[in-house]
Amino acid sequence: MAQKKLQRFAEIETFPNVLIYPENMPGAWASHFGNAHPLTLELACGKGDYTLGLARRYPEGNFLGVDLKGNRIWRGAKTALTEKLPNVAFLRTQIEKLTDYFAPQEVSNIWITFPDPFLRKSKARKRLTHPRFLALYQQILAPGGAIHLKTDSAELYHFTQYVIAATGCTLLEDIPNVYALNPVPELLRIQTYYEGMHLADGRTIRFLKFALPAEPINWRAFKPEPEDEAAAEGEH
Ligand SMILES: C[S@@+](CC[C@H](N)C(=O)[O-])C[C@H]1O[C@@H](n2cnc3c(N)ncnc32)[C@H](O)[C@@H]1O
Repeated sequence: MAQKKLQRFAEIETFPNVLIYPENMPGAWASHFGNAHPLTLELACGKGDYTLGLARRYPEGNFLGVDLKGNRIWRGAKTALTEKLPNVAFLRTQIEKLTDYFAPQEVSNIWITFPDPFLRKSKARKRLTHPRFLALYQQILAPGGAIHLKTDSAELYHFTQYVIAATGCTLLEDIPNVYALNPVPELLRIQTYYEGMHLADGRTIRFLKFALPAEPINWRAFKPEPEDEAAAEGEH
């Protein structure tokens, strides 16, 4: 492993704003932040650009970036420490394990920023807006909370539109081309590392905001869109 990566892994162990596979966290986030402000998660946060951007704009909220990769989390955590942002933290874990870390209704909002689209149907269950994940989010999200997805992937955007309808979610915002808006809404102006690369490649940035249904999502009964099946059959 590269020396720099090893150094960053060692350093995040010492950062007060990074929790690595922590224990006993459900119900303890208010005590971690020292206040009971609403908690927003950024899933697949990478370097935590939305976590930082939202935290700077909303000192009255707490913001937690979640990602598996310690060296990426290091970047966001280091910036938060340098800027002395008390309302930022990072959680290193698998998103699949979210319910190990939060009590029911402990989370107020979820942002999912440029997640891997997992285009193959055989990997569809890994998409962070698959009903399997929505059922997890239901277990931690407070009533009135919303999911915000920002993506460059037309496939993930259409898949998520389909999932929203198929699972009884409520679509709150649907923006097929964020930067065609004039003005671009304040919160959507925050740009992530991956977003910068996609914009440089001329890709269209899309946004969906939706609320989860009150009834538990039975994700095992989820039937993929017929076109998704057809596309998968054409895969090699
Ligand atoms: C394409 S990057 C996007 C990073 C960042 N949001 C951005 O826009 O720059 C996707 C991120 O998701 C993380 N990731 C993918 N699957 C994950 C999982 N199951 N649990 C936690 N993190 C995951 C990866 O480590 C990676 O940092």
